[in-house]
Amino acid sequence: MTLMPTGRPRLAGKVAVITGAGSSGPGLGTGKAASILFAREGAQVLLVDRNAQAAAETEAVIREEGGTASVLAADVTLASDCAAIADAAIARYGGLHILFNNVGITGPGGPTDVEESVWDNVLDVNLKSMMLTTKYAVPKMIDAGGGSIINMSSIAGVRAGSGAASLPYSASKAGVIGMSETMAVHLGRDNVRVNVIAPGHIYTPMVGGTMEPQTRERRRKAGPLGVEGNAWDIAYAALFLASDESRWVSGIVLPVDAGLLAATPLAMYTRIREGE
Ligand SMILES: NC(=O)c1ccc[n+]([C@@H]2O[C@H](COP(=O)([O-])OP(=O)(O)OC[C@H]3O[C@@H](n4cnc5c(N)ncnc54)[C@H](O)[C@@H]3O)[C@@H](O)[C@H]2O)c1
Repeated sequence: MTLMPTGRPRLAGKVAVITGAGSSGPGLGTGKAASILFAREGAQVLLVDRNAQAAAETEAVIREEGGTASVLAADVTLASDCAAIADAAIARYGGLHILFNNVGITGPGGPTDVEESVWDNVLDVNLKSMMLTTKYAVPKMIDAGGGSIINMSSIAGVRAGSGAASLPYSASKAGVIGMSETMAVHLGRDNVRVNVIAPGHIYTPMVGGTMEPQTRERRRKAGPLGVEGNAWDIAYAALFLASDESRWVSGIVLPVDAGLLAATPLAMYTRIREGE
């Protein structure tokens, strides 16, 4: 049994790819927070985003702090771009150990009004993209002796959400869970771990831009902890799953949600109504 060396950055010697490493607005998205955190912990980080300017803002923060990162503009729905991501990790940093599939979008539509084009787009961006990035990253990880893949789902992939229905979002995030479990089983003998994070109602630019203050407050109160979550809460969970500290963890769905999935609606009803 080798003991983990102490005092060493938790991702020293690792090369990480993070998709959606920019942010969809001012402030901190989860890809941006994870990129900054992974770099602080010694990883060399390839910052993938279709919005190169947003990813460049993340790169500037990391460089300012003395970390190592660079931007790759790519659309993760395209197979050719996903192949280029894996190749760039090898060309720039000589290996690939961590893939954080963080990109995700939402789109409207309930059972009777969902539009086919919205369905196809959300499923492509949220689910197909993870199949594609993984397909090209795994051979590089195997070359490196193993790796860790972290796929971003949501509590919406486990339970129906509040607010307006998004059938494509829920279906894509549930799909992430099923796909990741299968990947974990079939990549285990290659020492490639695959895990899922299911965030609760976190406050990030993706939702913050359009949200009424009372909705924000209701989201906070819906969690048993009663504390608003943010991108750092997710980034720290991803850091654990990326690091060798989780070397015996694969195929799990980790809710990071202030306890929300543990509660029945009635358990939280009065707390939400009465402002506790
Ligand atoms: N915010 C929440 O409450 C919440 C809750 C649960 C899960 N999530 C999930 O967390 C993840 C990130 O959320 P966020 O709020 O930080 O998002 P964000 O919108 O701030 O960041 C997403 C980034 O992905 C990039 N992107 C979008 N489509 C892309 C594509 N095709 N190719 C490459 N890059 C692309 C965007 O340019 C953006 O920079 C998503 O998967 C989301 O579904 C968010």
